[in-house]
Amino acid sequence: MCGIVGYIGKTQKGADIVLDGLAALEYRGYDSAGLAFLDKSNAIVVSKQVGRVQALRTALTQTKTALSTSTTIGQTRWATHGAPSITNAHPHYNADRTITVVHNGIIENHQELREHLEDKGYKFVSDTDTEVIPHLIDYYTHECKTFGQAVEKSLGKLRGAYAVLVMTSKQPDTLYAARLSSPLVIGIKKDAIFIASDATALIEHTKEVVYLNDYELATLKQDGTYTVKDYKRSLYINRDTETLDYDAQESNLGNFPHYMLKEMHEAPDTIRMATSGRIRLQNNTVKLGGLESVADQLKYIDRVVIVACGTSYYAGLVGEYLIEELAGIPVEVQLASEFKYRNEPFSRGTAIVAISQSGETADTIAALKKVENYGVLRLGVVNAVGSTIARITDAGVYCHAGPEQAVASTKAFIAQVTVLTLIALHLSQGKSPLFKPILNELAALPAKTEAILAQAEAIKKLADKYKDYNDFLFIGRTYGYPCAHEGALKLKEVSYIHAEAYAAGEMKHGPLAMIDESFPTLAVATDSPVLEKTLSNMQEIKARKGKIIAIASEGNTSVKKLASDVLYIPESPEQTQPILIALVEQLFAYYVALANGHDVDRPRNLAKSVTVE
Ligand code: AGP
Repeated sequence: MCGIVGYIGKTQKGADIVLDGLAALEYRGYDSAGLAFLDKSNAIVVSKQVGRVQALRTALTQTKTALSTSTTIGQTRWATHGAPSITNAHPHYNADRTITVVHNGIIENHQELREHLEDKGYKFVSDTDTEVIPHLIDYYTHECKTFGQAVEKSLGKLRGAYAVLVMTSKQPDTLYAARLSSPLVIGIKKDAIFIASDATALIEHTKEVVYLNDYELATLKQDGTYTVKDYKRSLYINRDTETLDYDAQESNLGNFPHYMLKEMHEAPDTIRMATSGRIRLQNNTVKLGGLESVADQLKYIDRVVIVACGTSYYAGLVGEYLIEELAGIPVEVQLASEFKYRNEPFSRGTAIVAISQSGETADTIAALKKVENYGVLRLGVVNAVGSTIARITDAGVYCHAGPEQAVASTKAFIAQVTVLTLIALHLSQGKSPLFKPILNELAALPAKTEAILAQAEAIKKLADKYKDYNDFLFIGRTYGYPCAHEGALKLKEVSYIHAEAYAAGEMKHGPLAMIDESFPTLAVATDSPVLEKTLSNMQEIKARKGKIIAIASEGNTSVKKLASDVLYIPESPEQTQPILIALVEQLFAYYVALANGHDVDRPRNLAKSVTVE
């Protein structure tokens, strides 16, 4: 997914600030990069490169172009319209290069705008949708009194999704930033303003941030002042700053070779942070401050619908079992991309729970927008503080996992399941007989994840043994069933190996036909009331010469008789096993991908935050 960064301020380090910001956004995935700045005569200078941000930095340095600039904007582009090329890279600009823009998102009506502008004599040089923006602003400068009005009028003509920065040589002390469905955060500091697609690109400069909402245009000044206008309602907004809840070094790699490994090793702290201040062992209570404002409504909830995508969807599947078992409330988990098109009835007793690490996933946002006037309670389980989903839901519970940079979600899944466990306990109002055991187990879980991380070498050996297979089946039952899906997704997305998940009970209904010695199975066979049934499925697989990697509970002696290889998790109630099982699967996927030489942090074709539908 593209990333945009902008700077305006009194220092002459604009280019360095933007280049460092773009480098911080590299985890989002891209294929070209570019930036534009005002030189000493306030003329716009543009530099673009296909490939990495470092190539852009090198090019700028080699051209002796002084990197001492103030107002600067830049972008890493993940090609949607137009192939990766220098011409298609951002920034784009008008004919006399007095206006330049960077843009993240998709202009859905770009073709009709392009044709309209070409009829007016405008010439296009790229294949991108973005290039319509500087030409459109140029067009409106001829009829609007001010440049800001031309920007506003142009934004009103755009349909689709955008986070856009506009710079003009006509106003060297001003930058314009606007958003519609594509995230944009503004960092505020004395005499300087930083703008980016997400906070990791600006946190080293400031923790005081302002998040723009849809249809908002920010006018940013070199002295660090700014205004925010809702250009749809033509209203100025008084938007206070928020304070980011993590430090810059948390978003750096540290001594790890990859973000994915670093973030898996954060699992123990992730659980501690997600439960911190929320579980009170001494009086058996769960305190979720983010739900207090809707406490009365929660008492009448008689149905929960969880909407999410990808890994967050599988966390939702775990949540389904937890809320039903601990709180006795029916739960349905739906893919956000399907939910938004269904014509399903909702009663006022329904709560919609959106789960999202980034808080910016377009499908999940669309699902929430679909029901915004249904009178249903909308809750968020989100990691990114201040993100769109966190702001458009009625209430919610933050995951507090800190920034997750690797495309493959690891610690966020663990945080999400931890939070869903807390929500299930909260909704049970302490009435479940499992309340105290699960509450105590949450306090014990960090140490158990440490024990799993200590098995990394054994998991790596297994990954080396199985890295060349082209197909994998993942099976599980009840709480192990969502784990089968999450494990299959992890393996797929970082190692590109075909992996599919099935409820273990489904084996006889078709999947068993695929099994032979070339098609191994990862079986979630941890201690639970349904383990015997899973052992029978393993027996069926073994009888067809299928190899089995089993995940079992420490102390269990029956599983290894049926499995080719066994990985053990510390004993834990079945309700909290998914966190431990997932960590084993994440490590397995990581090492298989590494053994096959893949870029584990930036898997091909994928983006960290899917902000387009
Ligand atoms: C998970 O490893 C993937 N990166 C992807 O499935 C992700 O979980 C999905 O895109 C949802 O993202 P979100 O949690 O930020 O909404």
